[in-house]
Amino acid sequence: MKDDSSSALRELINRGEFSFSKGLGRKTESLVFDRGTLRALFEIMNRLSIRYIDYPVSSGKESVVFKAQAGGGPVAVKIYKRSTIKFNKLHEYIDGDHRFDSVNRSRSGIILLWARKEFTNLLESRRAGVLVPEPIAINKNVLVMKYLGTVKRPAPQLRKVDDPETYYSRILTNVRLLVERAGLVHADLSEFNILIHRKKPYLIDMAQSVSITHPKALQFLRRDLNNISSFYARSGIVTNVEALLSELGRSIE
Ligand SMILES: Nc1ncnc2c1ncn2[C@@H]1O[C@H](COP(=O)(O)OP(=O)(O)OP(=O)(O)O)[C@@H](O)[C@H]1O
Ligand SMILES: [Mg+2]
Repeated sequence: MKDDSSSALRELINRGEFSFSKGLGRKTESLVFDRGTLRALFEIMNRLSIRYIDYPVSSGKESVVFKAQAGGGPVAVKIYKRSTIKFNKLHEYIDGDHRFDSVNRSRSGIILLWARKEFTNLLESRRAGVLVPEPIAINKNVLVMKYLGTVKRPAPQLRKVDDPETYYSRILTNVRLLVERAGLVHADLSEFNILIHRKKPYLIDMAQSVSITHPKALQFLRRDLNNISSFYARSGIVTNVEALLSELGRSIE
């Protein structure tokens, strides 16, 4: 690969391997696909026989998610932006999580750690039977996981579905499994980070998730449950997360 990532990217775009839609204009291209990211992406594409990237699913402050077609089926490729991520914010979720005690905390190391942390969290959650997208591979700041959705469209976020009440109890069951079996707190749970796939609620976006031994674990769990509760309250559905909070709180303290 040529050293100049912008020309390498241009080459890819010219070959039609990336089709950028609205919101993924020049600015995002240059932010996301720095040289290291592009190299990591190429390596992972080769490893997983990803022949092409279908389309961008989401472009946010911290990451861009693409749908891609791998040898084994459709995947979501999440690329953490190196340049825009708020580094100071990340420390709150890393310091205090004993699983990541001895890793490189330099500015360049932290983004790789952040991506790896999401991969580990997804893996541990899945092993515990929590509904999360299956993590497939990680290389630097590029994470590949199973794609949730249909051929036509990605799975909608909880806030976008017509029947959110259908999923309430299953969401709480998953929060319980996450704490009791995986020993984790999501720490950014909301109607944005739950996708409805095949009528089931999947928890996504777990880079910030922490071990229940983290000093702020209980505080994060309370915030997660309150987010869920206020989302449902806004949809006119009365919930009671207090009982679950005090019950799960006992396994945290
Ligand atoms: N496995 C997946 N399958 C299908 N869509 C996905 C998958 N993972 C993420 N997405 C889509 O991409 C969006 C962003 O993903 P995620 O929440 O993990 O990233 P983020 O760090 O919150 O990014 P942002 O900076 O946009 O908030 C999700 O809301 C969802 O719509
Ligand atoms: Mg998110």
